[in-house]
Amino acid sequence: KDAEVTVAIDAARQGPVIDRNIFGQFAEHLGTGIYGGVWVGKDSPIPNVRGIRSDVVGALKALRVPNVRWPGGCFADEYHWRDGIGPADKRRVQINSNWGGVPESNAFGTHEFMDFAEQIGADAYVSVNIGSGTAAEAGQWLEYITAEKDTSLAKERAANGHPAPWKVPILGLGNENWGCGGAMSATHYVEEMKRFANFTRNYNPAQRPDVNGGAGKMKRIVVGWDSDKLDYTEEVMKAWKDHVYSWDIEGVSLHKYTTGGWPPHLPATGFGNEDYAIAIADTLTMDDLLNRQAAIMDKYDPEKKLLIAVDEWGAWLALTPGSNPGFLQQQNSMRDAVLAALNLNIFARHADRVKIANIAQMINVLQAMILTDGGKMVLTPTYHVFKMYVPFQDAQFTPVTFNAGQYVSGAHKLPRVDAMAAKDKSGQVWISLVNIDPDAGTIVTLPGYRSASGEVLTAPKVDSVNSFEKPAVVTPQPVSARNGPRGLTLMLPPHSITVLKVTR
Ligand code: AHR
Repeated sequence: KDAEVTVAIDAARQGPVIDRNIFGQFAEHLGTGIYGGVWVGKDSPIPNVRGIRSDVVGALKALRVPNVRWPGGCFADEYHWRDGIGPADKRRVQINSNWGGVPESNAFGTHEFMDFAEQIGADAYVSVNIGSGTAAEAGQWLEYITAEKDTSLAKERAANGHPAPWKVPILGLGNENWGCGGAMSATHYVEEMKRFANFTRNYNPAQRPDVNGGAGKMKRIVVGWDSDKLDYTEEVMKAWKDHVYSWDIEGVSLHKYTTGGWPPHLPATGFGNEDYAIAIADTLTMDDLLNRQAAIMDKYDPEKKLLIAVDEWGAWLALTPGSNPGFLQQQNSMRDAVLAALNLNIFARHADRVKIANIAQMINVLQAMILTDGGKMVLTPTYHVFKMYVPFQDAQFTPVTFNAGQYVSGAHKLPRVDAMAAKDKSGQVWISLVNIDPDAGTIVTLPGYRSASGEVLTAPKVDSVNSFEKPAVVTPQPVSARNGPRGLTLMLPPHSITVLKVTR
């Protein structure tokens, strides 16, 4: 039976700004995420600009991707930037030991990544190698990318085709150093991290702390949350509280994948309500993880100077049958769209701390925006959620009150609906309404509003997908609300996401 829910938008109260960087993406040298997904090479018959495929760039531009995290992931802690610059035929071919043991040509290096980021209009989030690299190597990489003056490294960059310095707005100091990044204890990581924080200097004149009130200053993100232990967060915060002038950091990471239990096993297609409920229940624990990480940070940083970067999140499911197990390829269904919306809503509710997030991963890997196969490309249900959420970028969080209700699936008691609202810079109020219930619709009333229009994303089934053969099974459709006696009313279909702009 369809439920009825009243959602009251408290537009007079203003929350923090929902930083557009929470809509960031993660692109690792993993499977066909970069090679095939982004990079096809200059001589490819697939239309490209300087080797970067044009269809993918066009699709990503529509998402207004704020930042891209690169080159990893686990790959980052074995990445040596010098292998990826200079003439392509002279670059070192290595083995991608983390992901499938396949040859890594290094054809996509610093210049190609910066070009890609510029083509889609995103900021660079560069992760430096703490696991197997040195602070000197990382410092020189930053100098190579950002130095404007006539240093040897700036000249080398110019000789390689880019005289102007680039910006690095976000810098990752290592990745999962409790695991693939060197299996370090938290205290050991902190000692390493401090040297890297000190010696990775950003020389771009626009990124100096004294330019424009420090608006363009690079944010350094350190490794935090380790899946089930919080010792990294505790140790880095403790060190930061007593830090001396020579080093500083701006954020602490948190990684959380929706798996329904490790190792990943939930089927990506051909599943029913039970596996849907398991994934929803797991994804909703993101809120608790953020509360726990924020509580530790509050002890050392009650003024909330440091941010949380959820710089890896998304569904990690059973692999596409027949695919290379190291390539982490999975289909993306209507369920992924619901998971994406719920996580983005959680990040928005934590906008006071969560200011960066990166879904894993952008193309062809895990919960991807885009799938490619040779020259073919398909947009996933998750892509459509990110596109529908563009109005929330840098909008001001606006509290909503509603009774989420409950639906029951096996042992799981789950909320029936979720809602999140924000006011954009022009004063326009936007609301996202997620009907989580896989079977029943929800009639929503929005008191005090006279008109609403937007888009709804739903599909015949929770496991409906977009494929190369049928790319538009899960596609947003226009929707509007009608005036009822108690305010605007509209019907949310089962398993759906609706984003509306609402007017009083
Ligand atoms: O996104 C895949 C992998 O998951 C990343 O390389 C690693 O950081 C995490 O464990």
